[in-house]
Amino acid sequence: MTAKVIDGKAFAAKVRGQVAEHVARLKEANGIQPGLAVVLVGEDPASQVYVRNKHASTIEVGMASFEHRLDASTSEAELLALIDKLNADPKVHGILVQLPLPGHLNSELVINRIDPAKDVDGFHISNVGLLGTGQKSMVPCTPLGCLMMLRDHHGKLAGLNAVVVGRSNIVGKPMAQLLLGDSCTVTIAHSRTKDLAEVCRRADILVAAVGRPEMITGEMVRPGATVIDVGINRIERDGKAKLVGDVHYESAAAVAGAITPVPGGVGPMTIACLLANTLTACCRANGLAEPEGLTA
Ligand code: GUN
Repeated sequence: MTAKVIDGKAFAAKVRGQVAEHVARLKEANGIQPGLAVVLVGEDPASQVYVRNKHASTIEVGMASFEHRLDASTSEAELLALIDKLNADPKVHGILVQLPLPGHLNSELVINRIDPAKDVDGFHISNVGLLGTGQKSMVPCTPLGCLMMLRDHHGKLAGLNAVVVGRSNIVGKPMAQLLLGDSCTVTIAHSRTKDLAEVCRRADILVAAVGRPEMITGEMVRPGATVIDVGINRIERDGKAKLVGDVHYESAAAVAGAITPVPGGVGPMTIACLLANTLTACCRANGLAEPEGLTA
């Protein structure tokens, strides 16, 4: 079997289009413009690229973008004061503090200072708890993007065996919660799971979020399974820089029913879901109906 390639780039463009349409309607009917504030501390080059892309995408869908670039030496008190100001600002519906933060800043303290209703990353401990208990929350963007692609491909997910390889707070754990919410039978595996290949072969849905280049090979994939590759690993091969996922694409694509490529799979969905979350936060803040198909 040669797998169907799930085109995350095209899917993300569709999601951004839906967000843009909803934003235009909000402006027209209610005079409201959703706003996203992004806070970047320091000059980490990768973070600067992410923040630039987030700003451009936010503007493109018609939202207001508020960028706050702070010096690497910014104190915790100064950063917390900025978050308090953004929490109180009615024009700001979503707040994202770009991670990683410089070492002298306590990320947990900073993230948990964000108003949970504006926590579009879904990292605040209240949102983690709400998701874990099946209540309405803000959902982390990358697993939300994976869920949207899975629902689009399968329709209903109920009863399917899902294996999530990876147990991070940002992807693995929330992904497992979301799949459970859609009535999958969920296993969380990780780099130290015994007989990982056998566990993975049980999966109708296999999500690889382990952070190890090409660790999941074709022999670990059940024939016809859907493989979602969350990994983004920069490696050097034949003297050239290359981007690969956590899945060995060629061998897995020969066995799977459907697969996301790297690049062009899960990656583009993350920013699309950040915009969707900002729209959701804005609708909730104003007591309006949430956008259909853009939430968990
Ligand atoms: N740094 C890399 N990815 C992310 C993300 O999804 N959210 C935040 N806040 N920082 C990041």
